Amino acid sequence: MTRLAVIVADAMGPDTGPAQALQRFGYTQVQQARAFDDAIDAITNEHVDLLIVPIDGLDDAGIATLERVARRERHMGVIATSPRQDPELMLRAMRAGIQEFLVRPLSLTDLVPSLERLHRRADSREVNGQVFAIFSAKGGVGTTTTALNLASALASNHPDAKVAIADLTVPGGDLAILLNAHPTYDLGELSSKIERLDAELLNSVMTPAADGVWFLAAPDRPDAADAVDAGVVAAILAQMRGSFAFSVIDCEHQLNDRTLAALDNADRIVLLTELKVPSLRAAQRTLGIFRRLGYPNEKLCVVVNRLQSGDVVSPAEASQVLKADIFFKLPNEYRTVSEASTKGEPVVQSHPDSKLSWAYLQLAHKLGGGTLSAPSDGGNGSRSVLRQIFTRKRN
Ligand SMILES: Nc1ncnc2c1ncn2[C@@H]1O[C@H](COP(=O)(O)OP(=O)(O)OP(=O)(O)O)[C@@H](O)[C@H]1O
Ligand SMILES: [Mg+2]
Repeated sequence: MTRLAVIVADAMGPDTGPAQALQRFGYTQVQQARAFDDAIDAITNEHVDLLIVPIDGLDDAGIATLERVARRERHMGVIATSPRQDPELMLRAMRAGIQEFLVRPLSLTDLVPSLERLHRRADSREVNGQVFAIFSAKGGVGTTTTALNLASALASNHPDAKVAIADLTVPGGDLAILLNAHPTYDLGELSSKIERLDAELLNSVMTPAADGVWFLAAPDRPDAADAVDAGVVAAILAQMRGSFAFSVIDCEHQLNDRTLAALDNADRIVLLTELKVPSLRAAQRTLGIFRRLGYPNEKLCVVVNRLQSGDVVSPAEASQVLKADIFFKLPNEYRTVSEASTKGEPVVQSHPDSKLSWAYLQLAHKLGGGTLSAPSDGGNGSRSVLRQIFTRKRN
């Protein structure tokens, strides 16, 4: 297993001996960051497992940033160093949630036990996260778009939590396009090593995508589909639950064994439909199957996507036909969705003042709680329009 350690400036001191000890703990990649800000950039863009930082060089804002990052990247070990055993600095480190404090230059006899303690703590740190599967028996209803934006909204409502999004459509790729991501690894790698799956292996194949969201890509090779069977999906979801506060699954439209494994293992199923006859028929059939499978009503959340004034069926009529409550309604905002996908960002990030973004945040809040902070215009989507009018160039 390869691990990445980032060392800020002279956090370890001039001796290269202790740095070699990092290799023994699996840190085959060691990056030197010139300054603390460079290390923060690296942590935002890569999966960093260990940060060694000279805490005496940080001001209050730097400590606050470190605290935030350490809380968000719970998998990451942090060692703070300083030139002396300064009780005030040690207290600052502890308040920032850093449990390892060493005096530099680092010696092997201090560093090795410190790394052992960090690893022991990491092994015992399991979360019991929630899994939301997004499903529609009909294609093109918005499953992938909703999955991505729900994940992004969950991350926004829970700034300290790690959120995963997994593409289970095999062969897949739509999520990678919407995120403009080019992941090196995908779930095909996991299926070939499934008996060795642990938090570390899962983290190593996931790509940091949008803010606070980690992405598990689907293989785009058609021949990879057979290897990703129900057992693989169940094992991956169990590991995701242990490593992420929330996991959102973009499911295939066919109710095959792979999809059923995802739906069985999910806490909630978001069944997407449009208020159109073909889509409602598909939702009605699906709900019939779900009830025969014994899924409890509380597990099923019918979400109407692309709600618009021209819909021939009303939400109340849809509820009657489906014999189920409508859990949530997402507005139709084609332009917003297409602009976001062109930018390779979730709507929640690229169009935070849009009605649709506000709707995703509310849906995420209804499913996963957290802090819902209203956009500055209360979700009317007007601020961006006003801004456009007032910033329009005069010819
Ligand atoms: N709330 C929305 N408002 C407007 N357009 C939307 C909305 N949600 C999704 N769309 C659009 O609907 C189309 C289908 O969306 P998406 O690819 O997410 O659906 P899907 O069910 O995953 O499709 P596929 O069958 O290809 O997997 C896309 O053009 C997307 O931009
Ligand atoms: Mg899709």
